[in-house]
Amino acid sequence: MRWCVVRLNDEWREIRLHDYDELFSVPGLYERLIYDILKCDSPARIRKLFETELAASDTQAATLRVLDLGAGNGMVGEELADMGAEFIVGADILEAAAEATQRDRPGIYADYHVVDMTRLCQSYRRELAGYEFNCLTCVAALGFGDIPTEAFANAYNLIEPGGWIAFNIKSSYLDQDDSSGFARLIQSVMADKTLEVRKTRHYQHRVGTNRKPIQYTAIVGNKRRDVREEMLP
Ligand SMILES: C[S@@+](CC[C@H](N)C(=O)[O-])C[C@H]1O[C@@H](n2cnc3c(N)ncnc32)[C@H](O)[C@@H]1O
Repeated sequence: MRWCVVRLNDEWREIRLHDYDELFSVPGLYERLIYDILKCDSPARIRKLFETELAASDTQAATLRVLDLGAGNGMVGEELADMGAEFIVGADILEAAAEATQRDRPGIYADYHVVDMTRLCQSYRRELAGYEFNCLTCVAALGFGDIPTEAFANAYNLIEPGGWIAFNIKSSYLDQDDSSGFARLIQSVMADKTLEVRKTRHYQHRVGTNRKPIQYTAIVGNKRRDVREEMLP
């Protein structure tokens, strides 16, 4: 895990780059490191691409019932609400993320579940299915070992057929030699139109601590059917 030294409110802090518990527990620290210093702009990038595709299909954002997977402290939820989405539910494995959302962006999410999406029992799956989601967002969470394939597939399978899927993924996760399992999953869902892709865009997600660009791929499309077991690694 990489360590970084960050100055926030005239105070220097030594923090671990992917320690989200710590990043979310200090107000402004996540935004300062990931967005100001490492120049991440992905929530706004995905929003723009998504908005364009919604407009092209004459879909109003107000009709979306969104599951925001890996919601963190609510930066994606804020973009969605600003687009006009009226019903957004956050899901994140960390209690610290839910607390930070409540602290920094109260009222953005209709509900926020602290849940490990890889471990959904039947009754919890039914409870989440009750939201009748027609949109999944997952931003800045598929890369660096954050959200695994099973969690993404479980969330995907909670979305109604025809629903919108808007996410980004570290581009190297789509390469032939990928070991995360995402290359296999994403190629499989695209090949048989389990996910009907409308738009993909390769872009600079952020820079690394060495200032080198980190490339991600943004994907917007529509779900046609559930991810099947054999598509997972
Ligand atoms: C880099 S943050 C992205 C936060 C937010 N989407 C953004 O764009 O600012 C990735 C998030 O994924 C969450 N996460 C990792 N594994 C998860 C899992 N199995 N289920 C739900 N959330 C998970 C982490 O706790 C973290 O908040």
